[in-house]
Amino acid sequence: MSVTESWQEFAASAAKQAGNLHTASVSERIRDIHQRIKERHPAIARIAVALYDPEMRRLKTFVASNDSGTPLTGYECCIDDVPSLLRIAESGETRILNDVGSAPLSDAEHSRWLKNEGYQSSLTVPIRRNEQLLGFLFFDAYERNVFTDGVVADLVLSGHLIGLIATQELSTVQMLVGGLRLASQFAHVRDLETGAHLDRMARYARLIAREIGPAHGQSDDYAEIVFLFSALHDIGKVGVPDRVLLKPGKLDDAEREEMRQHVVVGLEMAERIINDFGLSNLPNIQMLRNIVLAHHERMDGSGYPNGLVGDDIPLEARIVATADVFDALACKRSYKPAWTLADAFAEIARMSGSQLYAPTVQALFDRRDEVEAIYKRFQETPLKL
Ligand SMILES: [Fe+2]
Ligand SMILES: [Fe+2]
Repeated sequence: MSVTESWQEFAASAAKQAGNLHTASVSERIRDIHQRIKERHPAIARIAVALYDPEMRRLKTFVASNDSGTPLTGYECCIDDVPSLLRIAESGETRILNDVGSAPLSDAEHSRWLKNEGYQSSLTVPIRRNEQLLGFLFFDAYERNVFTDGVVADLVLSGHLIGLIATQELSTVQMLVGGLRLASQFAHVRDLETGAHLDRMARYARLIAREIGPAHGQSDDYAEIVFLFSALHDIGKVGVPDRVLLKPGKLDDAEREEMRQHVVVGLEMAERIINDFGLSNLPNIQMLRNIVLAHHERMDGSGYPNGLVGDDIPLEARIVATADVFDALACKRSYKPAWTLADAFAEIARMSGSQLYAPTVQALFDRRDEVEAIYKRFQETPLKL
């Protein structure tokens, strides 16, 4: 089969895949594409996508399909520490390694992993959209000299579609979140939950999700969805009157009840959006409902609206609760001054286990350097989605 014919066949199957957006997860779709590619190139034992975060200049594992071996998950590094990938990012060219054993690879953990797993050939393709680097696509094989010119030509063509599919769900969610945030700004310019609070708490939530996700059976794409949806946790505050929302000092019982309604109003808003945009089959859309409704539930049952206890609280809501509380402590509110980061850490340690899910608190402690970097970086700037 010629490259053109195999490409046409692949494009047809990719078009079918694109139609599947609302039924299959990104991981499932990448696995499916991997099987199709192996029909043409049986030696390709692994396809993986890493995402690039331009703000922190970090590369993160995202989705992968492996024939065998130990998958590389939950891994991230700074792109500046991997000069070969930086070069690919800047030039937009592909990197072909047909003898990994003798290639001058970096000392980074993923290079060691590649060699330890016994991969002998590797092809790296940058994923770009509108001149922006979105990430990298990796094809790996256990044999040497797999990536001949013909194979590379075919895979590079396929690679652009794989990149598109891998980032498609995120783009849909990004558009949804961006639209909702804009709409809530128009309806709610008075909100004290500033853009900077959302910037920070969404990033703390992603950090926690990456740290504890694997132990909860979640793959790396889970953290990206948590990141995007967490910025919407308080959309329901649009329905809370100013006299309650902006009141300096403590709320009385009636006012507190009005404030608490924001989670139920938020869920109604989310349902409307899901219906209006036909998103009910989007993988992970349930996470939006869980985050909006349950981010004030507490581990000991003292939260609202349902007084859920422990594991009955969806994991993403436990993650967002910790990120939200931590940032609320560390920034100024109408009823309190900003606490120092050290005081905020001490307070979440106190709440750990009783109100906040202990592993989420531990995750912030374990990645304290990154927490501090996020805190310093995102001061009163709009969230870039
Ligand atoms: Fe809230
Ligand atoms: Fe918040």
